[in-house]
Amino acid sequence: MDLGIKDRVAVVAASSRGLGQAVARGLAKEGAKLALCARASAPMDAAAEEIRRETGAEVMTRALDVTDYDAVRGFVAAVVERFGRLDICVANAGGPPAKSFAETTMEDWRAAADLNLMSTVYFAKEALPVMQRQQWGRFIAITSVAVKQPVEGLILSNAVRSAVSGLIKTLANEYGRYGVLVNNVCPGYTATARLVELSHRLAEKEGVDAAEIEARWARQTALGRVGRPEEFADLVVFLASERATYITGASIAVDGGLVKGLY
Ligand SMILES: NC(=O)c1ccc[n+]([C@@H]2O[C@H](COP(=O)([O-])OP(=O)(O)OC[C@H]3O[C@@H](n4cnc5c(N)ncnc54)[C@H](OP(=O)(O)O)[C@@H]3O)[C@@H](O)[C@H]2O)c1
Repeated sequence: MDLGIKDRVAVVAASSRGLGQAVARGLAKEGAKLALCARASAPMDAAAEEIRRETGAEVMTRALDVTDYDAVRGFVAAVVERFGRLDICVANAGGPPAKSFAETTMEDWRAAADLNLMSTVYFAKEALPVMQRQQWGRFIAITSVAVKQPVEGLILSNAVRSAVSGLIKTLANEYGRYGVLVNNVCPGYTATARLVELSHRLAEKEGVDAAEIEARWARQTALGRVGRPEEFADLVVFLASERATYITGASIAVDGGLVKGLY
């Protein structure tokens, strides 16, 4: 299927590794031009170089923290200046730490809101007016299955991600008339560095092996395994494309059947 996004310009936030990097690679394979960001420049530049080599895509990079609004604003402006447009924006970040409610501090709550809610607001604030002017755009937030079914031990994520779902649904209503589609893609357990980190933290807490934690996660899914980043990226790339023209305001899980509810 031709996804129709050759030469479309895509910002993918938090994309030096993991889900963001897989999404960036998937978009580049479809011919999109990329703008990547993450805090550390060396791994991001290495990821960008790998994507250029594999796909021939034009890739710009910028080292920034997505919790810094001025940095996000400057980045989006630089993308529009360089490429003349911005068609696709994938809002992403790291995840908050695994803690029980009793372990959390007020600073943890503020940091989680900054990392996962406010960073999405910052990208939306800067990208959506550009897409509105163009009368075409795709804004996609990466959240978590936590918006459908709370994940054990991740109270910060469980609480803050749902605010992003509310944001996305509302933005879809406000921007639909301008040809801008806004969606939320919710990963289940997917094999990235974040998942390895979480399994080690939980394993330490419970005094078991990290492999036992990962096996437990796999057993919770219908497919009996954790996902691969490319499996997640395939849906994001589709939603970013010309083939996805009547899906907006949706929160779609890519979770191997982890969520047990009907919707
Ligand atoms: N993997 C899963 O199973 C899973 C499941 C549910 C939800 N999620 C969520 O999906 C998102 C992506 O997860 P992942 O597994 O791809 O994580 P990951 O492997 O840890 O990668 C995170 C990426 O984000 C960048 N990043 C982190 N904090 C940032 C910040 N403040 N500003 C800019 N860039 C930042 C990191 O680079 P730098 O460190 O250099 O900044 C890295 O490129 C996270 O919010 C995660 O919680 C993941």
